[in-house]
Amino acid sequence: MQCRSAEELQLLVNEAKKSSNKGKVADYIPALQKANKDTLSISLFYPNGSCFSAGDIKENLTLQSISKVITLAIALNDRGEEYVFNRVGQEPTGDPFNSIAKLETNKPSKPLNPMINAGALAVTHMIEGSSVDERFKRILKLIQKLSGNESISYNKEVADSEFKTADLNRSLCYFLKEHGVIDEDVEQLIDLYTRQCAIELNCLDLSRIGCVLAMDGKDPYTEEQLIPSSVARICKTFMVTCGMYNASGEFAIEVGIPAKSGVSGGILGAVPGRFGIGIYGPALDEKGNSIAGMKLLKLMSEKYSLSMF
Ligand code: DON
Repeated sequence: MQCRSAEELQLLVNEAKKSSNKGKVADYIPALQKANKDTLSISLFYPNGSCFSAGDIKENLTLQSISKVITLAIALNDRGEEYVFNRVGQEPTGDPFNSIAKLETNKPSKPLNPMINAGALAVTHMIEGSSVDERFKRILKLIQKLSGNESISYNKEVADSEFKTADLNRSLCYFLKEHGVIDEDVEQLIDLYTRQCAIELNCLDLSRIGCVLAMDGKDPYTEEQLIPSSVARICKTFMVTCGMYNASGEFAIEVGIPAKSGVSGGILGAVPGRFGIGIYGPALDEKGNSIAGMKLLKLMSEKYSLSMF
């Protein structure tokens, strides 16, 4: 069964929204505190171009950790699988997204996967280009192509706010540098990473990105292969095993689709072969995932039989 109308979707949003008051807006990046905790919006985008939305889909969100899927795709393209996975692992951690613990206990010292902050910083380091600006433009360009929206840019206030407060991420970088996983100036890497995390779009843009991933990297309109299918497959696999951090196992059982969350409250979903999902609900649970967004996906998975398992 598939969603037949925006009204039908709105009923699910109304139900899921009730859980927003149990969550909390992210505050460790000061600029994110301004978000409206009660907001919940969603878009579904299908390969034939049809789309259903509910909630205020004009509201913008920053990608935050959702950007890690895109940077992984670029690094895999730039460097190949062997290079990337010699430096970043492929296993879930069971730890919070910004944990430093396993970097020390894991031998050789490399981040366990590209979806945690340590792994994502190592991946962003791998993106080719002669300057931060050039590397950032490459990330932005791919996001614009995937979403079919050339006006997407980044929110400077959010980027600056994170840059000023990113001392834990700086610590991760210095640890990675000490162990030879990265070899660039840490401030430069944090500059690029905080800009990538602050790329700003709406649910509709996000659902179109999800649709391209769902269709193995091919733009359903132009038929252009925007991401090689082998790379899209790796990205979706990480979304299943690590996309919702240390809630990924429970999410796989309860929802069962490749998805990636961000602390802004965004969730990118790709229902393989069917459609893309973009969600924005800034109230987070204790693991940093959108509380109402998770609930909404659970309701949708039950109603539309979305689980791939
Ligand atoms: O590096 C950070 O902490 C943020 N820019 C992104 C973290 C994030 O989105 C984790 N998601 N749930």
